[in-house]
Amino acid sequence: MPSYVITGASRGIGVSFLLPASALLNDTHIEPIYAQREFVNQLSKDPQNVVFGIVRSTQSSTTLLELQKSRPNVHVLQADITDVPSLKAAAAEVAKVTGGSLDYLINNAAQVFNERFKLTISAYSDEKVLEDDLIDAFRINVVGVVHTTNAFLPLLRQGTAKKVITLSTPISIPEVTLVTDFAANAPYCVSKAALNQVVTKYAVAHRDEGFTFLNISPGVVNTFERPPTPEELEFFQDAFPKFRKASPDWNGNPITPERSVELMLSVIDKVTVKDTGAFLSHWGNQKWL
Ligand SMILES: NC(=O)c1ccc[n+]([C@@H]2O[C@H](COP(=O)([O-])OP(=O)(O)OC[C@H]3O[C@@H](n4cnc5c(N)ncnc54)[C@H](OP(=O)(O)O)[C@@H]3O)[C@@H](O)[C@H]2O)c1
Repeated sequence: MPSYVITGASRGIGVSFLLPASALLNDTHIEPIYAQREFVNQLSKDPQNVVFGIVRSTQSSTTLLELQKSRPNVHVLQADITDVPSLKAAAAEVAKVTGGSLDYLINNAAQVFNERFKLTISAYSDEKVLEDDLIDAFRINVVGVVHTTNAFLPLLRQGTAKKVITLSTPISIPEVTLVTDFAANAPYCVSKAALNQVVTKYAVAHRDEGFTFLNISPGVVNTFERPPTPEELEFFQDAFPKFRKASPDWNGNPITPERSVELMLSVIDKVTVKDTGAFLSHWGNQKWL
């Protein structure tokens, strides 16, 4: 029975408020469509899979708890990826269910935005706030993923798949940043750039053990759980044309979590130890959007 741990299963690429690009770019009419926590949802459709969704708060993860009621192969565990004891406790819970092994770890949790997402790195008026934003993003997006990976590594060694999948973004890549002129949301992009190298370090350290460490980009995915604010709309109206400079074929529509996860799972299925350390898109190549 293949086993999966997914962090950040409470929302986001777990859940969506469907926001078509036309709504983002042209008007404010938005159809709310709540999807299931998507990695957990798609993986647990197969009763052969055992799926552990890690959330910061089980109490507020109501959709996931609902899903757990109808699918006995879903387990909801509480841990903060910056809190090592909570991760070790979650790993111990997983071991109890699986008998001490784990096949797949999907490092999905991240801090994507904070309230200063529109600022460029030189536009902060307060150096302390800039420093805190950079350190917070690093603590969650880099150190948090390292702690998570290390907490589950002993179980993954006992698994058969030995795959560790980490979600990253092309706006962490210097060449893409130069082409897109995307200067905003710097702490996030900088921390994801460091995370890319973390994945490479794990890849070379564990290749001989048969591990596949993969960086994957999910595409531009609509993860809004509420209508965007005017400030957010303005941000996307500026960002999307920039993203198209790197991906001229992109139609400008964010994809749904369903589609993104469906595509990523197919890539995750295909990669082998020969691909360890690669950074692939949801298409399985470097076509980012
Ligand atoms: N959406 C996109 O277009 C896009 C594009 C490129 C890459 N990505 C990547 O895809 C992944 C998911 O993105 P998303 O858009 O779904 O993000 P999101 O909607 O902001 O959701 C982030 C998730 O991470 C969890 N999280 C944050 N900090 C945590 C912590 N310290 N410990 C445990 N969980 C924590 C959140 O839990 P709470 O509910 O408790 O806050 C939430 O479940 C991220 O790695 C992101 O970088 C997304």
